[in-house]
Amino acid sequence: MIDNLRPLPDPSSIPLVALESMNETHREELEMVNRLGTLLTKAMEGEADEKAISAETAAWVEHTRLHFKRENELMLEYGFPAYPVHSSEHERMLALLDELHKTWLESHSVEPLVAFLFESWPEWFEMHVNTMDSITAQFINQRGGA
Ligand SMILES: [Fe+2]
Ligand SMILES: [Fe+2]
Repeated sequence: MIDNLRPLPDPSSIPLVALESMNETHREELEMVNRLGTLLTKAMEGEADEKAISAETAAWVEHTRLHFKRENELMLEYGFPAYPVHSSEHERMLALLDELHKTWLESHSVEPLVAFLFESWPEWFEMHVNTMDSITAQFINQRGGA
């Protein structure tokens, strides 16, 4: 069992980038992740709502798929030079999430989800938004994108 879960990032304090549409997507994602985090915390305390965890996990993975797809399309539309680097990072993370989702559906074990969501994902998200997303948003914003 995993103890001492760190609090997940607050949706109102996301690292901001130069495009409001991207900020909005990031905020939505943090809201979803916090809902899933609450369900997982309850599950760790012995009150697992498997149906709700399934629904929130599926919604989070699909939201991320669309989030990355939209960013990839924006990068292509505006000719962002580092498209291959940024889009391949999206691909890598989406593959991890798909695998995690599959593991949950097969095992209904909360530990892998808890470990990923609380231990690796927050740092990845903050780093990704502060680096690749931030540079991408700045590039597109300077070219009149919104
Ligand atoms: Fe993003
Ligand atoms: Fe991104």
